[in-house]
Amino acid sequence: MKFFVDTADIDEIKELAEAGLVDGVTTNPSLVAKTGRKFGDILKDICDIVDGPVSAEVTALDAPGMIAQGEKLAKTADNIAVKVPLTIEGLKACRHLTDKGIMVNVTLCFSAVQALMAGKAGATFISPFVGRLDDLAIDGMDLIAEIRAIYDNYDSITTEILVASVRSPNHVAQAAIMGADVCTIPPSTLRQLIKHPLTDIGLAAFLADWEKTGQEIG
Ligand code: G3P
Repeated sequence: MKFFVDTADIDEIKELAEAGLVDGVTTNPSLVAKTGRKFGDILKDICDIVDGPVSAEVTALDAPGMIAQGEKLAKTADNIAVKVPLTIEGLKACRHLTDKGIMVNVTLCFSAVQALMAGKAGATFISPFVGRLDDLAIDGMDLIAEIRAIYDNYDSITTEILVASVRSPNHVAQAAIMGADVCTIPPSTLRQLIKHPLTDIGLAAFLADWEKTGQEIG
């Protein structure tokens, strides 16, 4: 499973990329707003660090507007994936941009049939929001299982399942078990995936024992 980082924070992306944990990046208007920086500058900075897909979301609501914005965003770098909402206008834009060879991430997916529609429209990625379903007491991971089952029934659908609105290490573990293609993870959750109390305890014990030997390496 590929790991994308769900952030527009360049310092976070840099650090996680150094550890080889970043196969791509997803941004959205809310994440961009948090930085207080210009969208174009953020995208350029991210694409300088990351070779994998970098999702950049359009804000137009009609297909011609989304296409114009998408084509502009795609000029930033070859690895831009234009993010469009799961609406009829978004799917029209998806088909158009896909046919032009531009990657498209269809976002704000909350049902399996929506994901089927995005697959038919040629999306590169479908982004089901699991955390926001959990917030409504609907199990978001059930949606991932349904989409996986549907996509696996049809060779003609090449869309990758990009699990979004990830809130916990458990979401990531379940996504991997279910065979999701990608998880986009906030930096804080990505760090949680690395942590285990037994690792910290074990490391402290090794260092204490090493000190007793009075030796130094190098
Ligand atoms: O980028 C879309 C997504 O991951 C949003 O997550 O936490 O705002 O529901 P969240």
